[in-house]
Amino acid sequence: MKSIVVIGSLNVDVLQKIERLPQQGETLSIENKSSNFGGKGANQAVAAARQGAIVSFIGAVGSDAEGQTFLQLLEQEGINTRFIQSKKGPTGTAYIMLEKDGHNTILVHGGANAELTIEDVEKAKDVITMADVVVAQLEVPRPVIQRGFELAKEAGAMTILNPAPVTQRIESAILEHTDLLVPNETEAAALLNLPASTDYKTLKDRLPLYREQLGIHNLIITLGEDGAFFAIDKQIGPVKNFKVDVQDTTAAGDTFIGTIATTIEPDLSNIERTLQRASAASAIAVSRPGAIPSIPSSEEIARKLAPMAMS
Ligand SMILES: Nc1ncnc2c1ncn2[C@@H]1O[C@H](COP(=O)(O)OP(=O)(O)O)[C@@H](O)[C@H]1O
Ligand SMILES: [Mg+2]
Repeated sequence: MKSIVVIGSLNVDVLQKIERLPQQGETLSIENKSSNFGGKGANQAVAAARQGAIVSFIGAVGSDAEGQTFLQLLEQEGINTRFIQSKKGPTGTAYIMLEKDGHNTILVHGGANAELTIEDVEKAKDVITMADVVVAQLEVPRPVIQRGFELAKEAGAMTILNPAPVTQRIESAILEHTDLLVPNETEAAALLNLPASTDYKTLKDRLPLYREQLGIHNLIITLGEDGAFFAIDKQIGPVKNFKVDVQDTTAAGDTFIGTIATTIEPDLSNIERTLQRASAASAIAVSRPGAIPSIPSSEEIARKLAPMAMS
């Protein structure tokens, strides 16, 4: 089985349902409030672990009750938490304000995630060296990701970067150690300073820019309800979505990335099967409520794919 290291964020998501955003100085009541464990790193690690990968997490929680509960939750998923540091202060928190009209506004407190250091990554050198794949997002400090990817490439592991949250610039020291970049359509466009697009021809025309401006050769852009777009080696193509009744798209992209990390071969030769599995896994995730609770197991993904294998 694949050995995967995730370098990433551990967040408590506080979801607040409101009529509308308050004006400056105004007081409004929250209609409904709930807390869930999430963060892109945690979601991606859980997606990989539920598919049978051996997953180690490099990250940080705070010295609070949430931090302890988070560690237990990850351990229950079979994730190695030995390289999750406990930092003074609170666990990272995302405050999500969901308005009645469906708009999301989010305030993030990095908390312990922001305290992760290069030394913390170096402590995990042994698991990085043994890993097949190292996955990172941009919710922990950039120098940490850079060092993690350097160690990964020295040891011959594949590196997958999910450039989220959206950013206009990524240090070339990270990009030159990135084997596969997996943004969504917004992130993909922001990296080139261009408007977002899900149009196949536009995405295809922009491909040389990723090579020239970012030095990126392998790219998968997720396009939400429009599926995905991939350019791997010399293969380019669209990826179709599975049709489902959408309940909650939280963790769709994270499930997609966790599945890619679990499925892809080092030479990228099984890209079609990988994308099919990732689409099936994400389709299941969007058809169920919540983030971590919505992430499927490998058995559920296999069941989703079974009708296709027969046709
Ligand atoms: N409405 C949908 N129906 C089926 N699959 C979906 C739907 N929305 C998203 N997905 C799947 O989830 C993947 C990731 O979704 P996307 O919205 O691009 O990621 P992110 O959550 O990072 O914005 C898509 O490429 C697709 O496979
Ligand atoms: Mg999206």
